[in-house]
Amino acid sequence: MSTLVAAASSYLPPQIEGANLLNLMIIDDERAVREVCREVAQSLGFNTCVADSAEHAYRMLDSQGTDVVLLDLRLPGAGGLEALRQIKERRPEAAVIVVTGYGTVQSAVQAMKNGAYDYVTKPFSMEELRLLLERVSAHLKLKTENRILREKVKSKQGFGSIIGRAPEMEKLYRIIAKAAHSNHPVLIMGESGTGKEMVARAIHFSGPYRDKPFIPVDCGSLVPTLIESELFGYVKGAFTGAGQPKDGLLAIAEGGTAFLDEIGEMPVDLQAKLLRAIQEKEIRPVGSTKRVPINVRILAATNRDLERAVSQGAFRRDLYFRLNVLSLRIPPLRERRQDIPLLAGHFLDRMTRSSGFERTLSDDAMKAMLAYDWPGNVRELENCLERACALTTGPVIHVQDLPSSIHGAVSLLSEAGNGSPRILPMAELEKQTILSTITQLNGDKLLAARMLGIGKTTLYRKLKEYSSPE
Ligand SMILES: Nc1ncnc2c1ncn2[C@@H]1O[C@H](COP(=O)(O)OP(=O)(O)OP(=O)(O)O)[C@@H](O)[C@H]1O
Ligand SMILES: [Mg+2]
Repeated sequence: MSTLVAAASSYLPPQIEGANLLNLMIIDDERAVREVCREVAQSLGFNTCVADSAEHAYRMLDSQGTDVVLLDLRLPGAGGLEALRQIKERRPEAAVIVVTGYGTVQSAVQAMKNGAYDYVTKPFSMEELRLLLERVSAHLKLKTENRILREKVKSKQGFGSIIGRAPEMEKLYRIIAKAAHSNHPVLIMGESGTGKEMVARAIHFSGPYRDKPFIPVDCGSLVPTLIESELFGYVKGAFTGAGQPKDGLLAIAEGGTAFLDEIGEMPVDLQAKLLRAIQEKEIRPVGSTKRVPINVRILAATNRDLERAVSQGAFRRDLYFRLNVLSLRIPPLRERRQDIPLLAGHFLDRMTRSSGFERTLSDDAMKAMLAYDWPGNVRELENCLERACALTTGPVIHVQDLPSSIHGAVSLLSEAGNGSPRILPMAELEKQTILSTITQLNGDKLLAARMLGIGKTTLYRKLKEYSSPE
């Protein structure tokens, strides 16, 4: 009979919403034990399957995914330690929890040395088993999350939906991945259009609270007098027109993230209230005498030089330090020109998908885009391509289809500096184009060949010619 102390019928496990999507295999020759373990595991959302012998388990392991194994070490036949070895061989990633009898803890210790995740001794209570399974499930979830993050960081074009492979961007992705798993405030700095909101979203949606709200608050566009009631909420009658109480955005973000955009625009008197809210983790709605606890992660962004604002007295030093626990700066596009072709390709693909009409950039257009400084950064690039797609009727976007500020960049390149265009032999022109493209792409010759529309062997041959003495 079952060696469990609690009877299955008296056990009322907390129901977990939805499945946890983990597959658990129970290997035990005692039917009653299998049934009770199954009940506990299912109540926690595991998909379960059972095996009454090691051989039965191996057959199943060979044909289906398994994340967690509950293995009785006192199996008849070859024995539990051999079964553990075979399971680890088939499913090295699976977390194996071994079940041992009283007095045979020694074998559990051996099992842990051989790679078991944990052990439990019979008789165990269902509560004990539940806690153990909850722990392994949290452990596996974290492992999966870390793997997803690593994959995102490794993805070909960038981090999730953030496009960019420049070394500064790679560094940024590593900080985002770290920040996602911490609870500290993060200050995101960068010029307009560099992707500050995208980064804030990436931090939130890569973290453990991604199912909770992400609430952006645009401190720049809100009327200063409204920011307080928007952030903290208000009670009925707090001011004229406050007919009904209203929750503030910090309360709406409960459990998740509040993204305070353009934090540099926040009025100084409100900065003190915000600091207090962050430090004390509570807010006082406008018109109320009571403080309400909040549990919100704060991300803030600014395109202003906050340090300077602090030294000028326009921004509170204490709030600056509080927000700046972790900080990251997104480089402007002109400092990572090698990402321009990648970004342009990404936006054109997206436009092709929505319009069903494929467009590519001519070499001249790409050259102009590489030479331009993009004061409005990625947003300007995106808008420029959207406009060009709308204006161009053919499949190719030419340099003339781009705004004049952009094709101006190219004519400047080919001018001698005295206002009159310089006339160059074709071969010289070709050499300059090839060399400057490679320089602009930080030495990426393969990409240069692709963008210049020549084969990589041709490019290498030409480079060899340039470097060999006449
Ligand atoms: N690295 C990137 N990859 C893909 N799209 C990007 C990237 N950076 C920015 N974008 C796009 O550019 C636009 C501007 O991005 P976002 O709003 O995040 O910038 P911002 O820094 O918050 O700008 P602002 O300071 O003007 O508010 C968005 O449409 C976004 O999708
Ligand atoms: Mg923004």
